[in-house]
Amino acid sequence: MSKDIKVALVTGGNRGIGYELVKQLAQKGFQVILASRNPEVGHEATQKLKELNLDVSFVVMDVDNQESIRQAAITVNERYGRLDVLINNAGVYLDENEKLLTMDASILEKTMATNFFGAYYCLYSFIPIMEKHGYGRIINVSSGYGEMREMSHQGVGAYKLSKLALNGLTQLVAAEIKGDIKINAVCPGWVSTDMGGPSAPKSPKQAAESILWLATIGPEGPNGGFFRDGIRIDW
Ligand SMILES: NC(=O)c1ccc[n+]([C@@H]2O[C@H](COP(=O)([O-])OP(=O)(O)OC[C@H]3O[C@@H](n4cnc5c(N)ncnc54)[C@H](OP(=O)(O)O)[C@@H]3O)[C@@H](O)[C@H]2O)c1
Repeated sequence: MSKDIKVALVTGGNRGIGYELVKQLAQKGFQVILASRNPEVGHEATQKLKELNLDVSFVVMDVDNQESIRQAAITVNERYGRLDVLINNAGVYLDENEKLLTMDASILEKTMATNFFGAYYCLYSFIPIMEKHGYGRIINVSSGYGEMREMSHQGVGAYKLSKLALNGLTQLVAAEIKGDIKINAVCPGWVSTDMGGPSAPKSPKQAAESILWLATIGPEGPNGGFFRDGIRIDW
């Protein structure tokens, strides 16, 4: 592998925004690792991209499972010895608009496990690989629902809290991190995926385009920010 080729990993890369992020990163010349919790589905998605002559490989990773994340990091380190871009994209939206205090509390726990702890344990396992080379670009795929003002309105409580916490995590880790490693959060907008539904105005392709500029920012670029369509949100 040439030293100039950068390696990127996308969680939940088998469908939706994640799949489009993998595709566009590969089209930009990255060597991309598509991470998916389902080996069959993940291999299938990877194969589809390989047929387009894109440089994509597969790793199995369930972000609800710390050991699965740890093993994936070992695999990436053994296979490439580096990681330049990490996109924490995997997410769930399990709310059915019930009130936080009357809904089944396992919905909150499951949502936090994927959307918050999943991203946290990915940072925990993958930042040390970035630190070896003193370089990294991390993007946490968040949501406008994670803005503080959203907490004043009832509904979608589990999802909102998970993305609020993800935004906080982004800022805290940005303050801790050393070297040319940058971490930012981004809201992709309302996107027509399985999660967003067919009425959403933005395509996964457009969403990925609005996210990926953060993968190639220079050393003077932002750190700890939260962005939508390239504009920093004061959340
Ligand atoms: N769509 C929108 O309008 C919208 C708006 C704001 C933010 N977002 C955020 O954008 C991100 C991508 O959303 P999307 O619209 O592309 O959703 P999606 O079509 O539902 O895809 C979600 C992806 O996350 C994966 N995933 C879920 N739980 C996982 C786990 N435990 N381990 C590994 N992968 C897991 C899914 O894998 P499986 O196929 O195995 O289930 C799938 O690949 C999410 O973080 C979401 O919160 C989306």
